[in-house]
Amino acid sequence: MELFKKGNHLIYFGDAIKILKEHIQNSTIDLIFADPPYNIGKKFNGHKEEWGSDEEYLEWCYSWIDLCIEKLKPNGSFYIMTSTQFMPYFDIYIKKRMFVLSRIVWYYDSSGVQAKNYYGSMYEPILYCVKDKNNYTFNTNDILVEARTGATRKLIDYRKNPPQIYNSKKVPGNVWEFPRVRYRMSEYENHPTQKPITLLERIIKSSSNEGDIVLDPFSGTFTTSYVASLLNRRSIGIELQDEYVKIGLRRLKIQDEFNGEILKKELRTFEYNKIMEKANYTLFEKPDGEYFYE
Ligand SMILES: C[S@@+](CC[C@H](N)C(=O)[O-])C[C@H]1O[C@@H](n2cnc3c(N)ncnc32)[C@H](O)[C@@H]1O
Repeated sequence: MELFKKGNHLIYFGDAIKILKEHIQNSTIDLIFADPPYNIGKKFNGHKEEWGSDEEYLEWCYSWIDLCIEKLKPNGSFYIMTSTQFMPYFDIYIKKRMFVLSRIVWYYDSSGVQAKNYYGSMYEPILYCVKDKNNYTFNTNDILVEARTGATRKLIDYRKNPPQIYNSKKVPGNVWEFPRVRYRMSEYENHPTQKPITLLERIIKSSSNEGDIVLDPFSGTFTTSYVASLLNRRSIGIELQDEYVKIGLRRLKIQDEFNGEILKKELRTFEYNKIMEKANYTLFEKPDGEYFYE
């Protein structure tokens, strides 16, 4: 385990279960966002996520879920993601231990590779739970969205006495539409399952206050810690792969060097091409389809 720290932000490089057990005190965290490997065969920094069976994956998940619950303050909130096929098991397990307030669907307009012979996956589930349903943070006014029906047409709600114009703002429902992080977006980092800033913004704004501690046990590109820092929260991020810890160190400006390596955002192909074009290099295509500059 290695710990990196600057100001209100901590990065633990190591295994989530071990770090939660040994380094995070019980009942100290305000908000946890957990986005673990989904057990659908993705590779993280070349390491394929693999469990012998569904049961083994679930046993592993139950052990970090138990730890997360222990680490939360009595008024704490927990947002958990996993693949659609495992979420029902999470739900059954967690509702015996916490209050599930919302079952959220994060919907996006593209599944990447288009399915042709079945219905492509266009959403990911998020479980939103609290320890105490009578005492938890929910900053309604910080996450209001446009209420389309009624308000835009300036309709009058005659069910109210006296009748009133429909509200133009509302608390979002449980279907959230945010684009996935795409290669050309400026927030893009080299990670297969990076979550968008917009998604974490809604979660952190609604379920924590300035100065609160937000923890992410599977940080990946450290979107959670990064958004927490923008919103003046404190953050704790845990990640097992050094390539991703390096992204976190850079995104959170904790350090600009790791084991002698300068931490710089990798240029994307179109950024590289622009630079080469400016330098008057021309891009040629070889017969085998490869490109080169001259
Ligand atoms: C689904 S991704 C998280 C993506 C992240 N939410 C983001 O926005 O980039 C899961 C991450 O968990 C990390 N991971 C897998 N096993 C871990 C473990 N035992 N402890 C800590 N991190 C782990 C993987 O390397 C991967 O980066």
